[in-house]
Amino acid sequence: MADLGRLVFDADLQPLRGAKIAVIGYGNQGRAQALILREAGLDVVVGNLRDSYWEKASREGFEVLSVEEASRKADLISILIPDEVAPEVFEASVMPEIRGRSVVINFASGYNIAFGLIRPPEKADVIMVAPRMVGEAILDLHRRGLGYPVLLGVAQNASGRAWDYAKALAKGIGALGRPGGVGVLSSFEEEALIDLLTENTLAPMILAAIEAFFDIVTQRYGVSPEAAILELYASGELGELGRAMAERGLFEQLKLQSRTSQYAQLTRIPVFRRILTPLIEREAERIYRGEFAREWGLERLSGFPVFTRSWAILESSRLAREEDRLYKILGRRSKRS
Ligand code: NAI
Repeated sequence: MADLGRLVFDADLQPLRGAKIAVIGYGNQGRAQALILREAGLDVVVGNLRDSYWEKASREGFEVLSVEEASRKADLISILIPDEVAPEVFEASVMPEIRGRSVVINFASGYNIAFGLIRPPEKADVIMVAPRMVGEAILDLHRRGLGYPVLLGVAQNASGRAWDYAKALAKGIGALGRPGGVGVLSSFEEEALIDLLTENTLAPMILAAIEAFFDIVTQRYGVSPEAAILELYASGELGELGRAMAERGLFEQLKLQSRTSQYAQLTRIPVFRRILTPLIEREAERIYRGEFAREWGLERLSGFPVFTRSWAILESSRLAREEDRLYKILGRRSKRS
């Protein structure tokens, strides 16, 4: 059992030297990770479907094989395809190639292992190196000589060296060993809980608050949609606040704001906290018990009816229409679309 919460800043690449690494998927994470691993002098092959991602990996100089063939040749297999397709791909194309042999399997998220949707064979080491960053940003930081945060986990330690592989991989993909780079010893379950809880609470709460704010000020108080949208998010101030939170700290960034704003926030935080706490508790419990994973699994199995309908409702909302109008005027969106 790892020392949960312990931080690591650097690691030894040695466990990966001489190993063949199959990066399965060349999308958001796959491309960034494969490029950085190759630059670190490691032996990388890409496993992919015959689609545009295959073409891209091939154009960028990688040996690209089918998922089966790449898995067959690899000592470490990094599954970097969308979480919702990974169980099927793993079962059909990876599992038959690794049965009975020692191999390391890496995931960039805890989801499929935490909820038992993928069950790797016992002889495999199962590790998680989960970046807290999108692929393009990883590449950008890497070009600037910087690292980034990752959560590390081990679900199966058949070789006894799984943590060494996880840390080495985190170094190989440019997360550790550079300024800004940090690994948190974590678990698949912990990563799945906090990642899903952000997606089920914090992110939709921000969007819901924006929608409600917009409707109230424009419909009840006659505020122009232009003024409301610029105030809410189009100015980019929200992004600046996010950056200040990351760099200075959640509460230190408050000091950059006016005293009026500080007073309003300090006195309203407890009010919203009382309203939000039971909602966050409810969602956390649902995620922890696997109910969200079941809900999302059923949604996919039934052909995405709620997903499709929810997008249609959102896109026809007044806020979406007003935003479209404003963004065309501002030149942020093509006038023809
Ligand atoms: P993505 O959507 O960019 O993946 C595209 C790749 O998946 C392509 O190579 C495509 O050929 C392949 N693919 C798609 N459908 C397939 C199928 N049915 N069979 C075989 N291959 C298929 O994926 P992304 O976003 O890079 O996610 C990969 C992993 O990284 C996931 O576990 C995700 O949770 C994790 N992750 C993603 C982050 C992100 O910012 N997108 C951040 C941190 C972790």
